[in-house]
Amino acid sequence: MASTSKALILSSPLMVILMVVLANAHALPNGRRLKMSKPGPWKDAHATFYGGEDGSETFGGACGYEEEQVKEMYGLNTTALSTALFNDGETCGACYEIKCAKGNEWCKSGQNSIFVTATNFCPPTGWCSTPNEHFDLSQPAFLQIAEYKAGIVPVQYRRVPCKKQGGIRFTITGNPDFILVLIANVGGAGDVTKVEVKGGNLAWTSLSRNWGQKWETNAKLVGKELSFRITISDGETLTSRKVVPKDWQFGQTFEGKNFI
Ligand SMILES: *[C@@H]1O[C@H](CO)[C@@H](O)[C@H](O)[C@H]1NC(C)=O
Repeated sequence: MASTSKALILSSPLMVILMVVLANAHALPNGRRLKMSKPGPWKDAHATFYGGEDGSETFGGACGYEEEQVKEMYGLNTTALSTALFNDGETCGACYEIKCAKGNEWCKSGQNSIFVTATNFCPPTGWCSTPNEHFDLSQPAFLQIAEYKAGIVPVQYRRVPCKKQGGIRFTITGNPDFILVLIANVGGAGDVTKVEVKGGNLAWTSLSRNWGQKWETNAKLVGKELSFRITISDGETLTSRKVVPKDWQFGQTFEGKNFI
């Protein structure tokens, strides 16, 4: 007993230091936000829907995700974002909780929330005009919170951490001199701000955003084993080492680690 409590007393200052260090692990020197482990504040917006009742027309879009990928990873739980939210594609992959604004006659009873991932852009006309914060949901997602005949409803929304099954997907396309990597199924904050690649013994090199979640590089990566380092909007970084074997081919998709 005595030795246990002595050990506890001795170790407690260390524990305090350790806890402080851990609590600050994600505080960045440039003062950006901490790791997104909790939902953000609720805000007001409006929501409409697009595509068919089976989600048709909602599986592709301006984030560059591939149709089969969207079906598998995001299903019908997707939204297009207005200009104000889309941020030139930087918000692709972010996750939102959305609920119909209380008191609206077209809200479905029960006040269910839906959880959707941003996969597309809603061009700036009509309700998606700037500066509106607007969600153009897949029809099945919309119908979980509101009646079809409503057409549009006021909603409340908040950013939430993305919970994804499996690892981040890296799809490589392009040609030996211009490689495009599509990054999908990202957990945590979900929206990627930086992508780095390391081919074999080469140094880490940054890719630049081509469009949506497609990232480009001129680095000579053919025939090299690849590692990827992904940074998301809350500053969290994750390295997936050697996730792509040397004999990779254009068109293939590889799975790395994931946030959360
Ligand atoms: C879509 O959301 C529903 C809950 O609303 C969930 O049951 C389902 O697994 C989700 N599908 C995908 C592919 O995430």
